[in-house]
Amino acid sequence: MSTPLRQHLIDPEICIRCNTCEETCPIDAVTHNEDNYVVDASICNACLDCIAPCPTGAIDNWRIVREAYSLEEQFSWDELPEEEEGISLDEGGEGAGDEAKEDEVTQMLAEAHAGAGGQSHAPASASQAYVNLYTRAAPAKAKVAGNFRLTDKESESDIRHIVLDFGTQSFPVLEGQSIGIIPPGTDARGKPHHVRLYSVASPRDGERPNHNNLSLTVKREVTLADGERYEGVASSYLCDLEKGADVEVTGPFGNSFLMPNDPAATLIMVCTGTGSAPFRAMTERRRRRSETQGTLLLYFGARTPGELPYFGPLMKLPERLIQKELCFSRLADKPKEYVQDRMRKQGAEIAGLLKSDKTHLYVCGLKGMETGVTEALKDLCREAGMDWSSLSAEMRETGRFHVETY
Ligand code: A2P
Repeated sequence: MSTPLRQHLIDPEICIRCNTCEETCPIDAVTHNEDNYVVDASICNACLDCIAPCPTGAIDNWRIVREAYSLEEQFSWDELPEEEEGISLDEGGEGAGDEAKEDEVTQMLAEAHAGAGGQSHAPASASQAYVNLYTRAAPAKAKVAGNFRLTDKESESDIRHIVLDFGTQSFPVLEGQSIGIIPPGTDARGKPHHVRLYSVASPRDGERPNHNNLSLTVKREVTLADGERYEGVASSYLCDLEKGADVEVTGPFGNSFLMPNDPAATLIMVCTGTGSAPFRAMTERRRRRSETQGTLLLYFGARTPGELPYFGPLMKLPERLIQKELCFSRLADKPKEYVQDRMRKQGAEIAGLLKSDKTHLYVCGLKGMETGVTEALKDLCREAGMDWSSLSAEMRETGRFHVETY
């Protein structure tokens, strides 16, 4: 009989197929097909470099197996298989029991996350997030309560505010969490469509206060190739939904990109486009609480005001609640400005805020923006006599620095 081994697996239900793990793996053990990202057990040497950069935690999975799952098996999964019962790495030996092995996995994960700047932790005063309450096999059923276009009619981007109502089902979310949407039907090969993750744009007590609903900010994904126009399956499905339609939902997901409950905390929020969703949720949470609050500082990048989601309502929010730094890249009469450009101009102010352990920094949106923002933070810290690399590691460790880019 073969000796049991611990196999590294990726959860296809949570994976958003962003390719980060495949890009990161130094020995090409991660690969993918049209369905799934998978780890080749015959190549993987458990260096764990892929763990920390994964935005969803789909990569944090191990199974103790007698025979490694083949690539073909993993490609065919819609969800991870159940743990096989009655196998242990101890077989034939005097090693530790299952509980100790669990601890070993936890320890292994902690070390892996420490590698690339450290694992993200929830802020110390954040509420406890619920995750994975609903799965592809047993999804929550929501009804569309509204679907409104946020961007100007003439603008290229079709970004929508979609409200989902969960009726009598419990679907607790916190600001910063995501949910999975299951587009109905199958692809050209007859396989069910992938689940897609979307950040929740409403606060924990609902899009409407004390209603069992939530909102999403969804951009219709359009790509042009060979003269053809292709639309993203999940985003088009969502953008075309009529009021009253049924939607299958998984999740919630995410237990670190959360807001502090401490009312005195300062939140610096940096985003582009639909990356604003979690910040709408956090800002609205703050707006609905009546006590005196710490500073909210928002850097928000869009092509034009007409393409900036929630531009109208955002402009109405008072300065005493939130400082809005809106940066536009395609105005006819102004040079292009990205969020990182504005951050550089306000470097001393940001550095001053970063000196306080009450300050939390969030970045959400385009991957390219993350690179630009990191460079800006390095420079503005250096100019203030601070070191971004050690500060960011400390902020991550204490749950005060969070990045979600795609
Ligand atoms: P750009 O006009 O150069 O595309 P989108 O509308 O595609 O979702 O993008 C949202 C905003 O993010 C746009 O203003 C876009 O500018 C901007 N953007 C694109 N790339 C970067 C980047 N590398 N850093 C910061 N902002 C970016």
